[in-house]
Amino acid sequence: MEKLNVAVVGATGLAGREFIKVLEQRRFPVGSIRLFDSEHSSDTELFFDHQRIQIEEITPDVFRDTDVVFFFADADVSRRLVPLAVGVGAVAIDNSSAFSSEADVPLVVPEVNLSDIEWHKGIIANPNCTTIQLAVTLNPLHKIIPVKRVVLSTYQSVSGSGTAAIKELTSQTRLVLDGYRVCPHIYAHQISFNVLPEIGLFLDSGYTREEQRIADETRKVMHVENIAISATCVRVPVYFGDSASVHIEFEASMNSAKVRRLLAEAPGIRIIDDCSVSLYPQPWASSDSNLIFIGRIRKDLSLSNGVALWVVADNIHKCTALNAVLILEEGVRKGWINKTGDHRRF
Ligand SMILES: NC(=O)c1ccc[n+]([C@@H]2O[C@H](COP(=O)([O-])OP(=O)(O)OC[C@H]3O[C@@H](n4cnc5c(N)ncnc54)[C@H](OP(=O)(O)O)[C@@H]3O)[C@@H](O)[C@H]2O)c1
Repeated sequence: MEKLNVAVVGATGLAGREFIKVLEQRRFPVGSIRLFDSEHSSDTELFFDHQRIQIEEITPDVFRDTDVVFFFADADVSRRLVPLAVGVGAVAIDNSSAFSSEADVPLVVPEVNLSDIEWHKGIIANPNCTTIQLAVTLNPLHKIIPVKRVVLSTYQSVSGSGTAAIKELTSQTRLVLDGYRVCPHIYAHQISFNVLPEIGLFLDSGYTREEQRIADETRKVMHVENIAISATCVRVPVYFGDSASVHIEFEASMNSAKVRRLLAEAPGIRIIDDCSVSLYPQPWASSDSNLIFIGRIRKDLSLSNGVALWVVADNIHKCTALNAVLILEEGVRKGWINKTGDHRRF
């Protein structure tokens, strides 16, 4: 495989650091790697392949001679900087929400819609963590019996809000245990010893932006417009790992044994499901795994064609870093991402 020159924006954040670790572990052939952050981190160094790499600040022509740029900062940074990367012929793989709903930007979960990478025009988007869990779960079932409606509630860890939220949960927990009141900074309310049914801004519909994004992104990744999806996203005082309770209604009869068999054969999934010994997926146990874990598979007794299940994955490792590295590996292997900047012909 040809060596590519890679750059990472947001390299010292939670997602950026994990991405660099996974890229190194999987021995992707990297020609050169440059790491970027805001001016706050310009005195920081990270290691890649036993080499010390100094964090750089971003200047206008900084992506020249770079083949692929990964963005792990926020959506405003991506909106500003992704065009600079694409403008010099690099491919931008963006982990923010900035481009995920744009019709000419593929939104890719390799286990579900790998071939969408082929039609990229310079930007490829990495979906929201819950979208990845949901699409990987629904896709193998939908191919056999179409999914009509999905109702899910998430239990999302604070790492989904970045480094500052990890610190906030730790400091609040200490303060509460010591008998002090806390003053929330990252979330609207105290997160330690609490749960918050608010992830993202509230929309006029009463749903949050995160809840709407999961519905829109899942339909886009799966190439289906007519699955009805209703999500309630909840932040819980867990450091790593996102969980979801998912109720699926099918167009025709589907039983839980068939769902278990189809999911057991599907890529990227491991079934952990034995209620007789309290065996089911848990966020701490999903840490650093490349898989999505599914359990509590049962008939939804409130529906004639319904199944309920419980899905867990490592939001940073599996659903952010690994998803981005798989897009790169598979895109390069198939010739859809290369040094030539072919996408500029579009
Ligand atoms: N955490 C997750 O589970 C997860 C999952 C999927 C997607 N994402 C997405 O990935 C992105 C990063 O999330 P995170 O959890 O890693 O957050 P984080 O820990 O807060 O890290 C944010 C990173 O962005 C950098 N940054 C901020 N402003 C910048 C600028 N103007 N120019 C260059 N770099 C800048 C920060 O650098 P400084 O420290 O120098 O400010 C830091 O390295 C977000 O868009 C998030 O939505 C996160």
